Amino acid sequence: MNDNLHTLRCFGCGARVPGAEARPDFRCSQCGDLFEVEYAGWGQRSGPDRPNPGALKWLWRERRCSSEALDQSGVWRFRELLPILDNFGNAVSLHEGNTPLYKLKNAAKTLGIDQLFAKHQGMNPTGSFKDTGMTAALSVARERGFKWVACASTGNTSAAMAAYAARAGLRSLVLIPEGKIAWGKLSQAMDYGAVTCQLATDFDGCVRVLTETVKQASIYLLNSVNPYRLEGQKTPAFEIAEAFDWTVPDHLIVPGGNLANSSALGKGFRELRELGLVARMPRISVIQAEGANPLVRAFTENNGEKMQPVEAQTRATAIRIGNPASWRKAAKAIRDTGGWCLDVSEAQTAIAKAEIGAEGLGCEPASAVTLAGLKKLCAQGKIAPNETVVLLLTGHTLKDADYTIDFHRGTLLTGEELKGNEALVAALKRDAVVVEATPQAVLAKLKGFGG
Ligand code: F0G
Repeated sequence: MNDNLHTLRCFGCGARVPGAEARPDFRCSQCGDLFEVEYAGWGQRSGPDRPNPGALKWLWRERRCSSEALDQSGVWRFRELLPILDNFGNAVSLHEGNTPLYKLKNAAKTLGIDQLFAKHQGMNPTGSFKDTGMTAALSVARERGFKWVACASTGNTSAAMAAYAARAGLRSLVLIPEGKIAWGKLSQAMDYGAVTCQLATDFDGCVRVLTETVKQASIYLLNSVNPYRLEGQKTPAFEIAEAFDWTVPDHLIVPGGNLANSSALGKGFRELRELGLVARMPRISVIQAEGANPLVRAFTENNGEKMQPVEAQTRATAIRIGNPASWRKAAKAIRDTGGWCLDVSEAQTAIAKAEIGAEGLGCEPASAVTLAGLKKLCAQGKIAPNETVVLLLTGHTLKDADYTIDFHRGTLLTGEELKGNEALVAALKRDAVVVEATPQAVLAKLKGFGG
């Protein structure tokens, strides 16, 4: 069966190429921009290629009770909206997606918002949102007969790629910036059997090396310039819409690194609206770290029309990216939906992370910029109390345990970074204490904590 209905359309000049004819670096041969997957007929009001909204909603919900492996994936459950394979039997799945949507009660109360949720993509099989994109793009690699796949990564993409490649019986090559990724992520790439090369450069340098490498050997590139990654990463938009019974939240707040995820979610909501599954889109806001904020600068200087790379510096290593590949797509998603692009400081990120932890959820530092950004948006009066807000938490708290421990020990932030936040940090800090091995000593310690 050939389920495949797509072409690739250049985001810059609009040129179209068949999927199998894209260059190994996934750049348009005419203008050098990135591609987007396009499905013929979806934009039309009627016609044989346009999926039926009511039937789809029913089918997707039914699949949640199915015992078929493909139906149990929160990505392939929506396969009518990502017909990128000749045969869905080629899909490589680890039962990704179907992640929880939690209420953030304490933060909502503090900020005076009625409805605040966290869509926790860290609850995916390898602990980050990358799994949803990887199942899609790696399945394409397998279907097209590649033996090797590769990515440059700040850690999560490499963990996801290595796992999915291992499941598919493919070999994987990982390029990471030496000493600049969290150990949890590095350990995953090793465990899943990737060939892991630590390069003496940053993430942007790793991307440059890999782009040249894939032009010289038959290796399938799985960075988010690969448009099929975004097809998987758009599916949390479907899950969110479904969870709100096909209304959409007013705001979706996403961390920004290489800027593919915000682009993918924008595409997901746009397609739902085009197909008549939802009536409108949420405002999509992107939050970057102050030290890795090229898109924020672009919005300040020219409404996101031109971007200058920066030298990136942040402890949220997942988003330590100075030259994001998908910035044009993300800028369009922000502009088209009326969202904002903000940056947050190291202290604001660390505090927000501890607050998410204290709600029993936890996340990695790069995810916490969403709550820190929401606080800024609330302070600027951009969020009304009766609006519904969803934060996208992208990675699991165990990905970067060193960061968490340093925060609670009080060794994470410098005195300069702490300034003005001392009391807040002191109230959130929970260092582990050394106690004599007797019940009396433990009970005495409890007294100090109001026990
Ligand atoms: N949050 C986490 C936990 C990430 O790992 C990343 C990106 C982002 C947010 C930003 O998403 O790049 O789509 O804007 N990590 C990539 C990696 C770059 O290699 O794992 P983005």
